[in-house]
Amino acid sequence: MSQITNEIKKRRTFAIISHPDAGKTTLTEKFLLYGGAINQAGSVKGKATAKHAVSDWMEIEKERGISVTSSVLQFNYDGYCINILDTPGHQDFSEDTYRTLMAADSAVMVIDASKGVEAQTRKLFKVCVMRHIPIFTFINKMDREARDTFELLDDIEKELGIATCPINWPIGCGKEFRGVFDREHQEIELFSDTQKGTKMGDVRKIALAAPEVDNLITEDQKAQLLDEIELLDGASAEFDLDMVSKGELSPVFFGSALTNFGVETFLQHFLAMTSSPLPRMSDQGSIDPMEEKDFSAFVFKIQANMNKAHRDRIAFMRICSGEFEAGMDVFHIQGGKKVRLSQPQQMMASERKMIDKAYAGDVIGIFDPGIFSIGDTLTTSANKFAYEGIPTFAPEHFARVRQVDTMKRKQFIKGINQIAQEGAIQIFQEYNTGMEEIIVGVVGVLQFDVLKYRLENEYNVEIKLENLPYEHIRWIENEEINLDKLVGTSDMKKIKDLKGRPLLLFVNSWSVRMTLERNEGLLLSEFGRS
Ligand code: G4P
Repeated sequence: MSQITNEIKKRRTFAIISHPDAGKTTLTEKFLLYGGAINQAGSVKGKATAKHAVSDWMEIEKERGISVTSSVLQFNYDGYCINILDTPGHQDFSEDTYRTLMAADSAVMVIDASKGVEAQTRKLFKVCVMRHIPIFTFINKMDREARDTFELLDDIEKELGIATCPINWPIGCGKEFRGVFDREHQEIELFSDTQKGTKMGDVRKIALAAPEVDNLITEDQKAQLLDEIELLDGASAEFDLDMVSKGELSPVFFGSALTNFGVETFLQHFLAMTSSPLPRMSDQGSIDPMEEKDFSAFVFKIQANMNKAHRDRIAFMRICSGEFEAGMDVFHIQGGKKVRLSQPQQMMASERKMIDKAYAGDVIGIFDPGIFSIGDTLTTSANKFAYEGIPTFAPEHFARVRQVDTMKRKQFIKGINQIAQEGAIQIFQEYNTGMEEIIVGVVGVLQFDVLKYRLENEYNVEIKLENLPYEHIRWIENEEINLDKLVGTSDMKKIKDLKGRPLLLFVNSWSVRMTLERNEGLLLSEFGRS
């Protein structure tokens, strides 16, 4: 095996999805702890301080103490080279969060055991399903009072429509949480004290049938475990790696990221079950990193002004085949010319550093003089293929934008277009009028503030945003439909994107359904083509 293939095979690139507060940051940090990338837990967690040091690129971040953009963490564990793509949650939820999933080969879904499936998990899950990427579930916070385990599985199956297969099963919960039962090996795994999760701790594995088990867990816990396992064996789906890799079955694990219980067990199983970098579709068919020797990558995120002094942009790309070397010349398909990839950067644990080499599966940030767009392909292959575009995700908040000083029309148009090109916002126009009125759509409301702030600070244009009541946007798949004849609901609004393609805005999902019912043959989509 060549050295490059070896490097690629070691790679595991995944995103962690969850609703805010389910424990994504804590779990990520514990992965880093087990990977030896940090010595003591607690260093990533201080979100307001630690993250600042690395992504201190915009005043708004400082003001609010949050990170507006997502980053990538790389570390090694047990012979694997792991890339975790961070998907911002909280108020900074944006289209970038969705796009990050386009760069991942699998996803880890963290669920709070006391809450079950929550809103943001549901949204991100939809994108995973669209891509058919494997989803691994970690049911977290078992050290607190949890919902009934069967109910939690039921919730995932019903809410998300995916079959589940518990790989392990919790023994007790809350203060009585002792460990997990490994179904394949019929062993119980008990965890030692981890000093509130700051140290790794030991795992003790004992066969369930061994007599000493009776000294380690209470009689009630054992009886409950035996009952539940019996029920489970009769009720749950069989483990099937093929279904897992198609995203049809989610292996489920239980634990507590805070106390490290079940974290390493999860990591080990997950790494063994998930795959090395997957093939990606291009206009010349599927490109498999195990076969394609030449370098290729696609841009999935553009971040402006990371360095305030230079006002530059960084294009983040996912390498899909071959090896990257700093300063290499590659062909930029959409731009139609050769470019030199300079100043490559990568996030290692929580520091940004310059890199010399990277491989398929890795994500690198490249200095962008304003030539790249989201979805662009770069390659050294003579075949000059282009990867499939990244869809446009449905914004959920809309506002009409008005300039305060109408004399600054030119700067305004330039600014808003550039910011839209980076993918932080989407811009639309009224269906029947010209460019006079601009409607902005965002996935997370924080992007409105980012837009206002950046237009003022970078383009010297002051704007006013007037919120609109719409929450649902649909792209019209069959564009031959005559929009003038469309029978909509009273709250429906017709708009168009910058390419003139028609779209519909609705206040509620009921109106979307009614409009579909009233117009036979109408095809609406939640994802747009870029
Ligand atoms: P997020 O990135 O998904 O938003 O969640 P994060 O890891 O920041 O965790 C949210 C809160 O839940 C934190 O508490 C964290 O300590 C706690 N937490 C995470 N995993 C577990 C777990 O397994 N068990 C328990 N009991 N709690 C857990 P916080 O009070 O908001 O922050 P902090 O004061 O602990 O820093």
